Amino acid sequence: MQNRKVSVIGLGIVGLTTAVGFALKGHKVIGVDVDDEKVAKLSKKECLFFESALCEKAKTADFQVTNDYEPILDTDISFICGGTPANSNGSIDLRYVQGSAGRLADVLKEKRKEHLVVVRSTVVPGTTEAVISPFFNGVGNIGVCVNPEFLREGRALEDFMAPNRIIIGESESKWGDVLVNLYEDFGSQILRTTMSTAEMIKYASNAFLATKISFINEIGNMCKRLNIDVHDVSKGMGYDDRIGAKFLNAGIGFGGYCLPKDVAALMKQAEIIGYEAGMLKRVLEINDEQPLRMLELLKKHIPVLSGKTIGILGLSFKPDTDDIRESRATLMVEALLKEGAQVRAYDPKAMANFKRLYPNIEYGIPQKVLESDAVLIITEWDEFRNLDYKNSIVIDGRRIDKAREALIYEGLCW
Ligand code: UGA
Repeated sequence: MQNRKVSVIGLGIVGLTTAVGFALKGHKVIGVDVDDEKVAKLSKKECLFFESALCEKAKTADFQVTNDYEPILDTDISFICGGTPANSNGSIDLRYVQGSAGRLADVLKEKRKEHLVVVRSTVVPGTTEAVISPFFNGVGNIGVCVNPEFLREGRALEDFMAPNRIIIGESESKWGDVLVNLYEDFGSQILRTTMSTAEMIKYASNAFLATKISFINEIGNMCKRLNIDVHDVSKGMGYDDRIGAKFLNAGIGFGGYCLPKDVAALMKQAEIIGYEAGMLKRVLEINDEQPLRMLELLKKHIPVLSGKTIGILGLSFKPDTDDIRESRATLMVEALLKEGAQVRAYDPKAMANFKRLYPNIEYGIPQKVLESDAVLIITEWDEFRNLDYKNSIVIDGRRIDKAREALIYEGLCW
Protein backbone atom coordinates (compact mmCIF):
# COMPACT_ATOMS: atom_id res chain seq x y z
CA MET A 1 0.00 0.00 0.00
CA GLN A 2 1.24 3.40 -1.00
CA ASN A 3 1.13 6.16 1.61
CA ARG A 4 -1.10 8.94 0.35
CA LYS A 5 -1.77 12.55 1.20
CA VAL A 6 -5.38 12.78 2.28
CA SER A 7 -7.51 15.82 3.10
CA VAL A 8 -10.78 15.52 4.99
CA ILE A 9 -13.29 18.36 4.73
CA GLY A 10 -15.83 18.77 7.54
CA LEU A 11 -14.72 17.55 10.96
CA GLY A 12 -17.94 16.21 12.48
CA ILE A 13 -17.92 12.63 13.77
CA VAL A 14 -17.64 11.18 10.25
CA GLY A 15 -14.88 13.56 9.13
CA LEU A 16 -12.85 13.37 12.31
CA THR A 17 -13.07 9.57 12.32
CA THR A 18 -11.96 9.47 8.67
CA ALA A 19 -9.03 11.82 9.42
CA VAL A 20 -7.88 9.97 12.53
CA GLY A 21 -8.41 6.56 10.89
CA PHE A 22 -6.30 7.30 7.80
CA ALA A 23 -3.63 8.96 9.98
CA LEU A 24 -3.46 5.77 12.07
CA LYS A 25 -2.97 3.84 8.82
CA GLY A 26 0.14 5.93 8.14
CA HIS A 27 -1.22 8.39 5.58
CA LYS A 28 -0.45 12.10 5.77
CA VAL A 29 -3.75 13.71 6.72
CA ILE A 30 -5.04 17.29 6.84
CA GLY A 31 -8.46 17.95 8.39
CA VAL A 32 -10.22 21.09 7.20
CA ASP A 33 -13.22 22.80 8.77
CA VAL A 34 -14.51 26.36 8.41
CA ASP A 35 -15.66 26.38 12.06
CA ASP A 36 -12.79 28.22 13.82
CA GLU A 37 -13.89 27.13 17.27
CA LYS A 38 -13.88 23.47 16.26
CA VAL A 39 -10.43 23.82 14.67
CA ALA A 40 -9.07 25.58 17.79
CA LYS A 41 -10.42 22.82 20.07
CA LEU A 42 -9.14 20.01 17.86
CA SER A 43 -5.72 21.67 17.62
CA LYS A 44 -5.59 21.65 21.42
CA LYS A 45 -6.57 17.93 21.25
CA GLU A 46 -9.86 18.61 23.00
CA CYS A 47 -12.56 16.00 22.54
CA LEU A 48 -15.67 17.18 20.70
CA PHE A 49 -17.82 14.07 20.86
CA PHE A 50 -18.81 11.26 23.19
CA GLU A 51 -16.58 8.80 21.33
CA SER A 52 -13.99 7.35 23.67
CA ALA A 53 -11.79 5.48 21.16
CA LEU A 54 -11.87 8.36 18.68
CA CYS A 55 -11.04 10.97 21.34
CA GLU A 56 -8.26 8.82 22.72
CA LYS A 57 -6.63 8.24 19.33
CA ALA A 58 -7.22 11.82 18.15
CA LYS A 59 -4.83 12.92 20.91
CA THR A 60 -1.93 10.91 19.56
CA ALA A 61 -2.65 10.44 15.84
CA ASP A 62 -0.45 12.50 13.58
CA PHE A 63 -2.73 14.77 11.53
CA GLN A 64 -3.05 18.48 10.95
CA VAL A 65 -6.18 20.58 11.47
CA THR A 66 -6.86 23.88 9.73
CA ASN A 67 -9.63 26.23 8.58
CA ASP A 68 -7.70 26.95 5.38
CA TYR A 69 -8.51 25.12 2.12
CA GLU A 70 -5.16 26.07 0.51
CA PRO A 71 -3.11 23.15 2.01
CA ILE A 72 -5.51 20.74 0.24
CA LEU A 73 -3.53 21.51 -2.93
CA ASP A 74 -0.70 19.45 -1.55
CA THR A 75 -2.90 16.34 -1.05
CA ASP A 76 -4.01 13.65 -3.55
CA ILE A 77 -7.43 12.66 -2.22
CA SER A 78 -10.11 14.83 -0.57
CA PHE A 79 -13.02 13.37 1.39
CA ILE A 80 -16.10 15.58 1.63
CA CYS A 81 -17.69 14.76 5.00
CA GLY A 82 -20.07 17.67 5.65
CA GLY A 83 -23.42 16.98 7.31
CA THR A 84 -26.67 16.70 5.37
CA PRO A 85 -29.35 17.78 7.87
CA ALA A 86 -33.05 17.29 7.15
CA ASN A 87 -35.22 20.00 5.66
CA SER A 88 -38.72 20.31 7.09
CA ASN A 89 -40.18 18.30 4.16
CA GLY A 90 -37.81 15.35 4.78
CA SER A 91 -35.40 16.16 1.93
CA ILE A 92 -31.74 16.79 2.80
CA ASP A 93 -30.07 20.17 3.02
CA LEU A 94 -27.02 20.08 0.74
CA ARG A 95 -25.67 23.49 1.72
CA TYR A 96 -22.59 22.20 3.63
CA VAL A 97 -21.70 19.63 0.99
CA GLN A 98 -22.13 22.12 -1.84
CA GLY A 99 -20.19 24.76 0.12
CA SER A 100 -17.28 22.33 0.57
CA ALA A 101 -17.37 21.28 -3.10
CA GLY A 102 -17.38 24.92 -4.27
CA ARG A 103 -14.40 25.91 -2.10
CA LEU A 104 -12.55 22.74 -3.06
CA ALA A 105 -13.09 23.36 -6.77
CA ASP A 106 -11.74 26.90 -6.32
CA VAL A 107 -8.54 25.64 -4.72
CA LEU A 108 -8.07 22.76 -7.15
CA LYS A 109 -8.22 25.09 -10.17
CA GLU A 110 -4.51 25.65 -9.68
CA LYS A 111 -3.68 21.96 -9.52
CA ARG A 112 -2.03 20.23 -12.48
CA LYS A 113 -1.61 16.73 -11.01
CA GLU A 114 -4.44 14.21 -10.59
CA HIS A 115 -6.75 14.68 -7.61
CA LEU A 116 -9.60 12.51 -6.37
CA VAL A 117 -12.66 14.02 -4.66
CA VAL A 118 -14.64 11.51 -2.57
CA VAL A 119 -18.17 12.19 -1.35
CA ARG A 120 -18.54 10.49 2.04
CA SER A 121 -21.52 12.54 3.24
CA THR A 122 -24.89 10.78 3.10
CA VAL A 123 -26.59 12.09 -0.05
CA VAL A 124 -29.63 10.69 -1.85
CA PRO A 125 -29.04 8.59 -4.99
CA GLY A 126 -28.04 10.71 -7.95
CA THR A 127 -26.79 13.69 -5.91
CA THR A 128 -23.06 13.33 -6.58
CA GLU A 129 -23.50 13.01 -10.31
CA ALA A 130 -26.07 15.79 -10.62
CA VAL A 131 -24.96 18.26 -7.95
CA ILE A 132 -21.37 17.61 -6.79
CA SER A 133 -19.51 16.45 -9.93
CA PRO A 134 -20.45 19.59 -11.91
CA PHE A 135 -18.34 21.71 -9.50
CA PHE A 136 -15.28 19.89 -10.86
CA ASN A 137 -16.15 19.77 -14.57
CA GLY A 138 -13.32 21.40 -16.49
CA VAL A 139 -11.24 21.88 -13.32
CA GLY A 140 -7.84 20.23 -14.06
CA ASN A 141 -7.49 16.47 -13.75
CA ILE A 142 -10.08 15.73 -11.12
CA GLY A 143 -12.03 12.53 -10.50
CA VAL A 144 -15.06 12.00 -8.29
CA CYS A 145 -16.10 8.91 -6.28
CA VAL A 146 -18.69 8.10 -3.62
CA ASN A 147 -17.64 6.20 -0.50
CA PRO A 148 -20.46 6.05 2.09
CA GLU A 149 -19.73 5.49 5.76
CA PHE A 150 -21.38 2.93 8.01
CA LEU A 151 -20.19 4.21 11.39
CA ARG A 152 -22.28 3.70 14.51
CA GLU A 153 -22.26 6.52 17.03
CA GLY A 154 -20.19 5.59 20.05
CA ARG A 155 -18.13 3.09 18.02
CA ALA A 156 -17.17 5.26 15.08
CA LEU A 157 -13.41 4.64 15.07
CA GLU A 158 -13.79 0.90 15.70
CA ASP A 159 -16.20 0.69 12.74
CA PHE A 160 -13.83 2.71 10.55
CA MET A 161 -10.80 0.55 11.34
CA ALA A 162 -12.66 -2.77 10.94
CA PRO A 163 -15.47 -2.12 8.45
CA ASN A 164 -17.72 -5.00 7.41
CA ARG A 165 -17.71 -3.61 3.85
CA ILE A 166 -16.23 -0.82 1.79
CA ILE A 167 -18.46 0.55 -0.93
CA ILE A 168 -16.81 2.42 -3.77
CA GLY A 169 -19.00 4.28 -6.24
CA GLU A 170 -16.79 5.29 -9.17
CA SER A 171 -17.24 7.61 -12.11
CA GLU A 172 -14.37 5.84 -13.91
CA SER A 173 -12.48 2.73 -12.85
CA LYS A 174 -9.13 4.57 -12.69
CA TRP A 175 -10.53 6.71 -9.86
CA GLY A 176 -12.04 3.72 -8.08
CA ASP A 177 -8.57 2.09 -8.26
CA VAL A 178 -7.20 4.93 -6.11
CA LEU A 179 -9.71 4.11 -3.34
CA VAL A 180 -9.16 0.35 -3.67
CA ASN A 181 -5.48 1.02 -3.09
CA LEU A 182 -6.18 3.30 -0.12
CA TYR A 183 -8.36 0.65 1.55
CA GLU A 184 -6.15 -2.28 0.55
CA ASP A 185 -4.98 -3.21 4.03
CA PHE A 186 -8.36 -2.88 5.79
CA GLY A 187 -9.00 -6.58 5.09
CA SER A 188 -12.62 -5.86 4.26
CA GLN A 189 -14.78 -6.92 1.34
CA ILE A 190 -14.97 -4.17 -1.28
CA LEU A 191 -17.84 -3.55 -3.67
CA ARG A 192 -17.18 -1.37 -6.72
CA THR A 193 -20.21 0.08 -8.39
CA THR A 194 -21.71 3.27 -9.80
CA MET A 195 -21.90 6.42 -7.71
CA SER A 196 -25.71 6.39 -7.48
CA THR A 197 -25.68 2.72 -6.45
CA ALA A 198 -23.19 3.48 -3.66
CA GLU A 199 -25.44 6.30 -2.50
CA MET A 200 -28.45 3.95 -2.52
CA ILE A 201 -26.58 1.24 -0.59
CA LYS A 202 -26.17 3.68 2.29
CA TYR A 203 -29.86 4.61 2.35
CA ALA A 204 -31.09 1.07 1.77
CA SER A 205 -28.93 -0.17 4.66
CA ASN A 206 -30.27 2.35 7.17
CA ALA A 207 -33.82 1.95 5.87
CA PHE A 208 -33.51 -1.82 6.29
CA LEU A 209 -32.28 -1.50 9.89
CA ALA A 210 -35.19 0.85 10.60
CA THR A 211 -37.58 -1.60 8.94
CA LYS A 212 -36.28 -4.47 11.06
CA ILE A 213 -36.97 -2.43 14.20
CA SER A 214 -40.48 -1.35 13.17
CA PHE A 215 -41.22 -4.89 12.02
CA ILE A 216 -40.32 -6.42 15.38
CA ASN A 217 -42.23 -3.61 17.12
CA GLU A 218 -45.32 -4.52 15.12
CA ILE A 219 -44.88 -8.19 16.05
CA GLY A 220 -44.23 -7.06 19.64
CA ASN A 221 -47.43 -5.04 19.75
CA MET A 222 -49.31 -8.18 18.75
CA CYS A 223 -47.35 -10.32 21.22
CA LYS A 224 -48.33 -7.97 24.03
CA ARG A 225 -52.02 -8.62 23.29
CA LEU A 226 -51.46 -12.36 22.87
CA ASN A 227 -49.41 -12.70 26.06
CA ILE A 228 -46.38 -13.90 24.10
CA ASP A 229 -42.83 -12.84 24.94
CA VAL A 230 -41.49 -11.02 21.86
CA HIS A 231 -37.97 -11.35 23.25
CA ASP A 232 -38.14 -15.12 22.74
CA VAL A 233 -39.74 -14.59 19.32
CA SER A 234 -36.74 -12.42 18.29
CA LYS A 235 -34.34 -15.00 19.67
CA GLY A 236 -36.03 -17.81 17.79
CA MET A 237 -36.11 -15.79 14.57
CA GLY A 238 -32.48 -14.77 14.97
CA TYR A 239 -31.29 -18.39 14.95
CA ASP A 240 -32.11 -18.34 11.23
CA ASP A 241 -29.05 -16.73 9.72
CA ARG A 242 -31.09 -15.44 6.79
CA ILE A 243 -32.85 -13.24 9.34
CA GLY A 244 -30.06 -12.59 11.85
CA ALA A 245 -30.45 -11.77 15.54
CA LYS A 246 -29.41 -8.12 15.43
CA PHE A 247 -31.83 -5.18 15.36
CA LEU A 248 -34.72 -7.28 16.58
CA ASN A 249 -35.02 -5.61 19.99
CA ALA A 250 -38.64 -4.50 20.25
CA GLY A 251 -39.56 -1.46 22.30
CA ILE A 252 -39.99 2.27 22.02
CA GLY A 253 -38.31 2.49 18.61
CA PHE A 254 -35.39 4.09 16.86
CA GLY A 255 -34.01 7.60 17.18
CA GLY A 256 -30.70 9.32 16.47
CA TYR A 257 -29.39 11.51 13.70
CA CYS A 258 -29.37 8.83 10.99
CA LEU A 259 -32.18 6.27 10.87
CA PRO A 260 -35.20 8.64 11.05
CA LYS A 261 -33.60 11.24 8.76
CA ASP A 262 -32.44 8.73 6.15
CA VAL A 263 -35.79 6.94 5.91
CA ALA A 264 -37.55 10.31 5.52
CA ALA A 265 -35.08 11.42 2.83
CA LEU A 266 -35.49 8.16 0.91
CA MET A 267 -39.28 8.58 1.04
CA LYS A 268 -38.94 12.12 -0.27
CA GLN A 269 -36.72 10.83 -3.08
CA ALA A 270 -39.39 8.22 -3.88
CA GLU A 271 -42.02 10.96 -4.07
CA ILE A 272 -39.84 12.98 -6.44
CA ILE A 273 -39.48 10.03 -8.82
CA GLY A 274 -43.20 9.27 -8.63
CA TYR A 275 -43.07 6.12 -6.50
CA GLU A 276 -45.12 5.63 -3.37
CA ALA A 277 -42.81 4.11 -0.74
CA GLY A 278 -45.67 2.74 1.37
CA MET A 279 -43.56 0.38 3.43
CA LEU A 280 -41.08 3.09 4.46
CA LYS A 281 -44.01 5.34 5.36
CA ARG A 282 -45.34 2.66 7.70
CA VAL A 283 -41.87 2.11 9.19
CA LEU A 284 -41.82 5.75 10.34
CA GLU A 285 -45.46 5.69 11.44
CA ILE A 286 -44.94 2.62 13.63
CA ASN A 287 -41.89 4.32 15.09
CA ASP A 288 -43.94 7.41 15.92
CA GLU A 289 -46.72 5.29 17.43
CA GLN A 290 -44.56 3.40 19.95
CA PRO A 291 -44.20 6.36 22.37
CA LEU A 292 -47.98 6.84 22.21
CA ARG A 293 -48.43 3.18 23.15
CA MET A 294 -46.18 3.77 26.13
CA LEU A 295 -48.39 6.68 27.15
CA GLU A 296 -51.49 4.46 26.86
CA LEU A 297 -49.91 1.81 29.09
CA LEU A 298 -48.99 4.47 31.63
CA LYS A 299 -52.56 5.78 31.64
CA LYS A 300 -53.83 2.27 32.25
CA HIS A 301 -52.27 2.58 35.71
CA ILE A 302 -52.51 6.34 36.22
CA PRO A 303 -55.54 7.52 34.21
CA VAL A 304 -55.13 11.21 35.05
CA LEU A 305 -51.56 12.41 34.65
CA SER A 306 -52.17 16.03 35.50
CA GLY A 307 -50.41 16.87 38.77
CA LYS A 308 -48.54 13.53 38.86
CA THR A 309 -44.76 13.21 38.71
CA ILE A 310 -43.52 10.81 36.04
CA GLY A 311 -39.91 9.64 36.08
CA ILE A 312 -37.85 9.08 32.95
CA LEU A 313 -34.82 6.80 32.93
CA GLY A 314 -32.70 7.49 29.84
CA LEU A 315 -32.69 10.56 27.63
CA SER A 316 -30.12 9.69 24.93
CA PHE A 317 -31.30 8.02 21.69
CA LYS A 318 -29.35 4.88 22.60
CA PRO A 319 -26.95 3.86 25.40
CA ASP A 320 -23.31 4.99 25.48
CA THR A 321 -23.91 8.34 23.82
CA ASP A 322 -24.90 11.81 25.02
CA ASP A 323 -26.74 12.43 21.74
CA ILE A 324 -30.43 13.27 22.16
CA ARG A 325 -31.28 13.95 18.53
CA GLU A 326 -34.62 12.30 17.67
CA SER A 327 -34.45 10.61 21.06
CA ARG A 328 -37.66 8.85 22.10
CA ALA A 329 -37.32 10.70 25.40
CA THR A 330 -38.12 14.05 23.75
CA LEU A 331 -41.41 12.63 22.42
CA MET A 332 -42.32 11.17 25.80
CA VAL A 333 -41.51 14.39 27.67
CA GLU A 334 -43.58 16.41 25.17
CA ALA A 335 -46.53 14.02 25.61
CA LEU A 336 -46.30 14.07 29.42
CA LEU A 337 -46.08 17.86 29.64
CA LYS A 338 -49.09 18.10 27.35
CA GLU A 339 -51.01 15.92 29.81
CA GLY A 340 -50.08 18.28 32.65
CA ALA A 341 -47.63 15.89 34.34
CA GLN A 342 -44.39 16.93 36.05
CA VAL A 343 -41.31 15.21 34.64
CA ARG A 344 -38.31 14.05 36.65
CA ALA A 345 -35.48 12.65 34.51
CA TYR A 346 -32.11 10.96 34.78
CA ASP A 347 -29.50 9.96 32.20
CA PRO A 348 -25.86 9.02 32.86
CA LYS A 349 -24.50 11.25 30.06
CA ALA A 350 -27.22 13.17 28.22
CA MET A 351 -28.69 15.40 30.95
CA ALA A 352 -26.63 18.48 29.98
CA ASN A 353 -27.83 18.26 26.36
CA PHE A 354 -31.42 17.61 27.42
CA LYS A 355 -31.38 20.57 29.84
CA ARG A 356 -30.71 22.88 26.92
CA LEU A 357 -34.00 21.75 25.34
CA TYR A 358 -35.99 21.31 28.55
CA PRO A 359 -34.54 23.57 31.25
CA ASN A 360 -37.72 23.48 33.32
CA ILE A 361 -38.20 19.79 34.01
CA GLU A 362 -36.63 18.26 37.12
CA TYR A 363 -33.37 16.28 36.89
CA GLY A 364 -32.28 13.91 39.62
CA ILE A 365 -30.43 10.76 40.63
CA PRO A 366 -32.04 7.39 39.69
CA GLN A 367 -33.28 6.73 43.25
CA LYS A 368 -35.18 10.02 43.22
CA VAL A 369 -36.61 9.25 39.76
CA LEU A 370 -37.79 5.87 41.06
CA GLU A 371 -39.78 7.67 43.78
CA SER A 372 -42.00 9.29 41.10
CA ASP A 373 -45.63 8.21 40.70
CA ALA A 374 -44.51 6.02 37.79
CA VAL A 375 -41.27 5.51 35.83
CA LEU A 376 -40.67 5.10 32.09
CA ILE A 377 -37.52 3.33 30.86
CA ILE A 378 -36.51 4.91 27.56
CA THR A 379 -32.84 3.94 27.07
CA GLU A 380 -31.16 0.66 28.06
CA TRP A 381 -28.13 2.05 29.90
CA ASP A 382 -26.24 -0.73 31.69
CA GLU A 383 -26.57 0.96 35.07
CA PHE A 384 -30.37 0.64 34.84
CA ARG A 385 -29.91 -3.13 35.13
CA ASN A 386 -28.90 -2.73 38.79
CA LEU A 387 -31.46 -0.32 40.21
CA ASP A 388 -33.97 -1.17 42.94
CA TYR A 389 -37.36 -1.02 41.23
CA LYS A 390 -39.34 -2.82 43.97
CA ASN A 391 -41.51 0.11 45.06
CA SER A 392 -42.16 1.64 41.62
CA ILE A 393 -44.68 1.42 38.84
CA VAL A 394 -42.52 0.83 35.75
CA ILE A 395 -43.38 0.99 32.06
CA ASP A 396 -40.37 -0.46 30.27
CA GLY A 397 -39.60 0.59 26.68
CA ARG A 398 -36.29 -1.29 26.43
CA ARG A 399 -36.64 -4.53 28.36
CA ILE A 400 -34.58 -4.13 31.50
CA ASP A 401 -35.21 -7.52 33.16
CA LYS A 402 -34.37 -6.29 36.68
CA ALA A 403 -37.32 -3.89 36.44
CA ARG A 404 -39.70 -6.87 36.43
CA GLU A 405 -39.36 -6.87 40.24
CA ALA A 406 -41.34 -3.60 40.28
CA LEU A 407 -44.60 -3.21 42.20
CA ILE A 408 -46.30 -2.94 38.82
CA TYR A 409 -44.34 -3.77 35.66
CA GLU A 410 -45.48 -3.31 32.07
CA GLY A 411 -43.27 -4.08 29.10
CA LEU A 412 -44.09 -2.09 26.01
CA CYS A 413 -44.21 -5.09 23.66
CA TRP A 414 -44.05 -8.00 26.11
C1 UGA B 1 -26.90 3.99 12.39
C2 UGA B 1 -26.45 2.70 11.68
O1 UGA B 1 -26.56 1.60 12.60
C3 UGA B 1 -25.00 2.83 11.19
O2 UGA B 1 -24.62 1.67 10.46
C4 UGA B 1 -24.91 4.05 10.27
O3 UGA B 1 -23.59 4.23 9.78
C5 UGA B 1 -25.33 5.28 11.05
O4 UGA B 1 -26.70 5.11 11.51
C6 UGA B 1 -25.22 6.45 10.10
O5 UGA B 1 -25.96 6.51 9.13
O6 UGA B 1 -24.29 7.26 10.24
P1 UGA B 1 -26.60 4.98 14.85
O7 UGA B 1 -27.50 6.09 14.44
O8 UGA B 1 -25.34 5.29 15.59
O9 UGA B 1 -26.14 4.13 13.57
O10 UGA B 1 -27.47 4.06 15.80
P2 UGA B 1 -27.97 2.54 15.83
O11 UGA B 1 -27.04 1.75 16.66
O12 UGA B 1 -28.26 2.07 14.46
O13 UGA B 1 -29.36 2.71 16.63
C7 UGA B 1 -30.39 3.53 16.11
C8 UGA B 1 -31.63 3.46 16.96
O14 UGA B 1 -32.29 2.21 16.84
C9 UGA B 1 -31.41 3.67 18.46
O15 UGA B 1 -32.39 4.57 18.97
C10 UGA B 1 -31.61 2.28 19.05
O16 UGA B 1 -32.08 2.31 20.37
C11 UGA B 1 -32.67 1.72 18.11
N1 UGA B 1 -32.70 0.24 18.05
C12 UGA B 1 -31.64 -0.46 17.60
C13 UGA B 1 -33.85 -0.44 18.45
O17 UGA B 1 -34.86 0.17 18.85
N2 UGA B 1 -33.89 -1.80 18.35
C14 UGA B 1 -32.83 -2.52 17.90
O18 UGA B 1 -32.94 -3.76 17.83
C15 UGA B 1 -31.68 -1.84 17.51
